[in-house]
Amino acid sequence: SDLIAAGKVAGQRVFIRADLNVPQDDAGNITEDTRIRASLPAIKMALEAGAAVMVTSHLGRPTEGEFKPEDSLAPVAARMAELLGRPVPLKADWVDGVAVAPGELVLLENCRVNKGEKKCNDELSKKLAALCDIFVHDAFGTAHRAEATTYGIAKYAKIACAGPLLAAEIDAITKALANPRRPLVAIVAGSKVSTKLTILQALSAKVDGLIVGGGIANTFMLASGLKIGKSLAEPDLVDQAKAVIDAMKARGAEVPIPEDVVTAKTFAAGATAAVKAATAVEDDDLILDIGPKTAAKLAEQLKAAGTIVWNGPVGVFEFDAFAHGTEAIARAIAESVAFSIAGGGDTLAAISKYGIEKDVGYISTGGGAFLEVLEGKTLPAFEILSKRAAG
Ligand code: 3PG
Repeated sequence: SDLIAAGKVAGQRVFIRADLNVPQDDAGNITEDTRIRASLPAIKMALEAGAAVMVTSHLGRPTEGEFKPEDSLAPVAARMAELLGRPVPLKADWVDGVAVAPGELVLLENCRVNKGEKKCNDELSKKLAALCDIFVHDAFGTAHRAEATTYGIAKYAKIACAGPLLAAEIDAITKALANPRRPLVAIVAGSKVSTKLTILQALSAKVDGLIVGGGIANTFMLASGLKIGKSLAEPDLVDQAKAVIDAMKARGAEVPIPEDVVTAKTFAAGATAAVKAATAVEDDDLILDIGPKTAAKLAEQLKAAGTIVWNGPVGVFEFDAFAHGTEAIARAIAESVAFSIAGGGDTLAAISKYGIEKDVGYISTGGGAFLEVLEGKTLPAFEILSKRAAG
């Protein structure tokens, strides 16, 4: 982005890897466009500097070599055109050559359909590199993947650099954790402990409070000897959950276990919700949210925090009867004086549902990438850029 800012890209072919992997409903309508908006500064900068601009992204997890209509970036092109106020032509089959004039923009179809993308095939990477004079990696959300458009092209492009979004994301998250205002409280919620175990372990060595929610909290309830009925959980990870609780305790910190929960007998929007003590969950109950007492306690903890990291809703907030816990967390974060950072698709959806965008200190466009930076890992797609910069 320094190159772009310095105006060194006029007439150059600039290839921008963005993360435009946005959520869509069954009809293909975009339900949340934060990632498209976040990609615009790099694109505008390159266009204004007179570059010939190519942008690509993956969308979903398509089968390589088999393009299906639902894999298309067409809805993204349409939304981007609306936001930019200019046409955004979409090009299919682009690996062997793209014609784009200086000052023009073309969106290249879903890069994950290209054979060799996921495995970062060398031949494909070289072809991609040959399409441009400058490669700009601005896809923070995909920077934890070493694929042809995130890693391979960066290896072979004449010039490879980080875009403004990638740089800002890594900067914001690492700075917030390097020397946080304490207490530092993290909320790690979602359906599975297994997908977030390493982040729970890493955070248990850093944070003063570790709030768990969703299926993750259910596994932690099991680890604390509570019954959870038919609720989603991973009983084989109970020992790991116990180890996280113990690691926190050993530092005088805690993992608050819900004292009350909202349950239902079926998983459905119209299911009858029942609030009960965490000790009173029945065999045929499904825990779908934290209860009001737990929510109020957690809200107090969040209001007293110095720094808050949020990833994952604490209940099934898509269903109104089970949304109170997540809403209470969102409102507490909004009211807290703490510096807050949030990331992950469901978290962004909750932030948007409760309209607290302006009250969150930093909203990351990353899901898995956000978690990996929090964990202290170096993202491969960022590492290769640093290597290139170091010569
Ligand atoms: C995401 O949505 O987290 C990123 O776009 C990465 O997607 P992926 O998990 O399919 O690689």
